[in-house]
Amino acid sequence: MNREDFPMLYKDIIYFDNGATTFKPKCVVDKIVDYYTNYTANAHRGDYKTSLKVDMEYEDARNIVQEFINAKSREEIIFNSGATQGLNMITNGFFANLLEAGDEVLITKAEHASNVLPWFHLAKTKGINVNYIPLDDNYYVTLENVKRSITPTTRVISLAQVTNVIGDLRPIKEICEFAHQNGIFVVVDAAQSAPHMKIDVQDLDCDFLVFSGHKMLGPTGIGVLYGKKELLENMIPTEFGGGMNESFDNVNEVYLKKLPTRLEAGTPNIAGAIGLGEAIKYINSIGINKIQEHEKELRRYLINKLSKIKHIDIINYESDTGIVSFNVEDIFAQDVAVYLDKYNICLRAGSHCAKNLKEETGVKNTCRISLYLYNTKDEIDKLVELLSDKDRIMKEMI
Ligand code: ALA
Repeated sequence: MNREDFPMLYKDIIYFDNGATTFKPKCVVDKIVDYYTNYTANAHRGDYKTSLKVDMEYEDARNIVQEFINAKSREEIIFNSGATQGLNMITNGFFANLLEAGDEVLITKAEHASNVLPWFHLAKTKGINVNYIPLDDNYYVTLENVKRSITPTTRVISLAQVTNVIGDLRPIKEICEFAHQNGIFVVVDAAQSAPHMKIDVQDLDCDFLVFSGHKMLGPTGIGVLYGKKELLENMIPTEFGGGMNESFDNVNEVYLKKLPTRLEAGTPNIAGAIGLGEAIKYINSIGINKIQEHEKELRRYLINKLSKIKHIDIINYESDTGIVSFNVEDIFAQDVAVYLDKYNICLRAGSHCAKNLKEETGVKNTCRISLYLYNTKDEIDKLVELLSDKDRIMKEMI
């Protein structure tokens, strides 16, 4: 991992908030600047050379994403603003038309708001029921608990593949197999998994999957909705406008384009998509498995050190990814974050948008470290040194 590739790391900063967003390598920044400097034009609308170059770069980014998650076809890759928009497209464009009052959607109390609130909206507008799969003692989802939770009305299971506070990896492939045997759809929020591990949507056999570019070295404002082609073909666009229509007349007749364009109304986030493509190329150049191994190694190192400090309570001692949530005894999580910030260490504190998780863990706020490819053991040593003296934290936190 070449830290010199990341301009943000030239600053005197230790960044452990990669679950919120990641730093961008220079090649991604350069790629975006190149678009704005050398070949700015709209996509899918021009018949001149510059515009055709934009079409090529934009569609090439789609091919890169397709390969990254091993989708069967490029039409299954829809660019949008991020995982949140993806989940809202799935609920409002697909399930709002399919589900009826009394149908059940299963989620968990560890889900991020983006995988809760769109379903709550359907509960309000359509009368569906949102219920929770119980978590085990480590706050994991088990296949057994999924099996125990379904009822004759269950139509959808919607889960993060990796949760943003516990960092557990869910058995999505097994859940999909079981769900499909029972005629249940599976939606996967891959915002916290796609940056860190190999995803193969054909192997998982999930129906829909979403993720965001900015959590995987790409720009903000770009994300991906994956859906099986036959499902996306039945998705009603949640936005209508230019680019996605073949033709319309003055009596409300509209002919939409084919996938993927029919679900990308308006001028797309061209720089974002191109930047995301470059980010994936960068990840591929290192190797996603190598990135995952690096994070696991750092996690073991961090857990080993933190667990020796008596006043630190680790919430997710067992976990599969580079997310470590903890509290310092008697000290409010946000105060710990402010104390660490004095030493230019960035981590996230609070409920991390997973506001129902406290009902499972009994803990409302935590400090969260989320590791990525550019973090090092030296950075962890510095963090541990600062956390090991409780009196110092108490004294300096204000
Ligand atoms: N979902 C992001 C996080 O976990 C914002 O920090």
